[in-house]
Amino acid sequence: MLTEKKRLLTGLQSSGDLHIGNYFGALKPFVEIYKEYESFLMVADYHALTSVRNPEALRRNTLNVVRDYLAAGVDPEKAVIFRQSDNQDHTELGWIMNCMVTVPFLMQAHSYKDKVAKGIEPNAGLFTYPMLQAADIALYNIDTVPVGEDQRQHLEYTREAIGKFNRAYGETLKEPQEMILDGVGVVLGTDGLKMSKSYRNTIPLFGSTEEIQKAVMSIVTDSTGDRPENVYAIHRLLKSAAELDPIYEANKGRYGDLKKLLTADLEAFIAPMREVRATITDEMVQEVLAAGVDKAKAVSHVTLKKVRSAIGID
Ligand code: ADP
Ligand code: TRP
Repeated sequence: MLTEKKRLLTGLQSSGDLHIGNYFGALKPFVEIYKEYESFLMVADYHALTSVRNPEALRRNTLNVVRDYLAAGVDPEKAVIFRQSDNQDHTELGWIMNCMVTVPFLMQAHSYKDKVAKGIEPNAGLFTYPMLQAADIALYNIDTVPVGEDQRQHLEYTREAIGKFNRAYGETLKEPQEMILDGVGVVLGTDGLKMSKSYRNTIPLFGSTEEIQKAVMSIVTDSTGDRPENVYAIHRLLKSAAELDPIYEANKGRYGDLKKLLTADLEAFIAPMREVRATITDEMVQEVLAAGVDKAKAVSHVTLKKVRSAIGID
């Protein structure tokens, strides 16, 4: 008997160069399972507009994120790779989702509060960001969303908006589940805080050898002579505790040597993907996006039609 595949979707904002936190938190978990699902991989460029004001940078970042998806091993024949802004169903359902939730509810969002605390402009787009994300997911009847820990609440917000819609209008949209893997939900940056594009504490996923070296050398270590936890935490993404513990024990206090070992391991992991990435042209990326948007629309139009009919706008 044919069983229908479940649906998987994730998205990354095109707000800057991807880092190893994005990779281990969201992209790798997607790559590992996407062939078992009917899969969608989006570039969230309208979300990036909440923080990027430079059109050239947004354009370049958007193409680069797709290039990164391909270099990370996503086959565009087996996943629908598309750009959010190419499909207006996202902004339309985003508006409808906005009408499902209250201002005090959105005011509780950690991500919004954290970004504002960091000095990012509290524009209205940033405030309603979780409802555009709810639309991204609801349009495709998604079961599972691989993300980092920082997105857990956004998935709760997605379910809340969908739940309110369904209670008001009858079962129309599917409630998704987040998939957050143990140990990689929060990848720490060079300063020991969550690695983030906006914190200047990243190790770039496709950095040059020199950039990786520079980032590793900048990892903050204390001077107690014990294990340098910030170095070890990043190293654990690449190797098991059983492999690393004897090395860290044998090199106690030799932070420079341990950082060199980490640099070499990062280089060995990044170099093959970097080589693939260098072969991917802008034309290839454009082709992938052109094919992706048609496949995405074929699914989202069906959902949006049901939604419009349910709410009385048809
Ligand atoms: P950033 O915080 O760097 O701007 P995004 O908000 O675009 O990154 O996040 C894209 C995806 O990567 C999300 O699923 C997010 O949870 C994940 N992610 C981002 N930073 C980390 C991190 N430090 N550790 C684990 N996952 C992360
Ligand atoms: N908000 C996510 C982030 O900052 C990006 C995103 C937008 C997303 N739409 C999505 C992630 C839909 C998963 C599903 O990382």
